[in-house]
Amino acid sequence: MNIGVIGGTGPAGRGLVARLASVGHEVVLGSRSEERAAEMRARIIDSWPGRSLNIVAGHNSTAADAELVIMGMLWDGAATTAASLEPKLRGKVVISMCNALTRLGGEFQPLVPPRGSVAASVQAAAPGAMVAAALHHIPARELGRIDEPLPCDVLVCSDYAEATKAASELIAEIPGVRSLDAGSLSAAAPIEAFTAVLLQLNARYSTRVSLSFTGIEGLEAPGADA
Ligand SMILES: NC(=O)c1ccc[n+]([C@@H]2O[C@H](COP(=O)([O-])OP(=O)(O)OC[C@H]3O[C@@H](n4cnc5c(N)ncnc54)[C@H](OP(=O)(O)O)[C@@H]3O)[C@@H](O)[C@H]2O)c1
Repeated sequence: MNIGVIGGTGPAGRGLVARLASVGHEVVLGSRSEERAAEMRARIIDSWPGRSLNIVAGHNSTAADAELVIMGMLWDGAATTAASLEPKLRGKVVISMCNALTRLGGEFQPLVPPRGSVAASVQAAAPGAMVAAALHHIPARELGRIDEPLPCDVLVCSDYAEATKAASELIAEIPGVRSLDAGSLSAAAPIEAFTAVLLQLNARYSTRVSLSFTGIEGLEAPGADA
């Protein structure tokens, strides 16, 4: 599949672009600056000399031309970027992985963006898109270690069954990752906010946690095939 990552020049974008390319996708690494996108592409390619990763660098608008689009940027630019690219996002599955967070003193605090979550803001800015919220808790560094599985759960939510299905199937291609259907896009608010707790745990215990649920092994979400 052709996948565009908007704002793919940060740690999360870097890891995600490398990982999706490693499982066989053609990935467009987007940025507000074509130069920054090209630099990050080169860094990824140079990091994995033995792998042929199908990664193209381009402007965010080029990434938005892809079949499936992922918002991988800093949260406060997500809605305005989605609005500016709205015609290109119409009818597509758009995954928002953005968390609205700030650091106060030594502590991470969740912020409340318009409509309660970044994903809902993106959906409002691009009403013709089918937004799924996902990938919020996945650690960027481990995501980028494409030679290692990444054992964790990823929560996916959307108001569109098609978006939940497409996002879940894509994410489940990452070795070790299980995607879980967390319901409608209203779940994005607590999912995004909970990231602050994970970052707090990382800071307090000097580690890098990831999310894993017990009790739902082998179960299908109702309507998963809808
Ligand atoms: N880091 C993680 O472990 C992790 C894990 C899961 C989810 N996330 C989420 O994924 C997103 C990216 O995380 P990150 O750590 O990679 O963030 P980041 O480095 O702070 O930002 C990523 C990119 O966002 C773009 N950007 C910044 N401000 C922008 C604006 N106002 N408008 C449009 N684009 C803007 C920049 O790209 P250009 O300047 O090149 O355009 C930047 O390189 C965040 O929302 C974060 O909450 C992060």
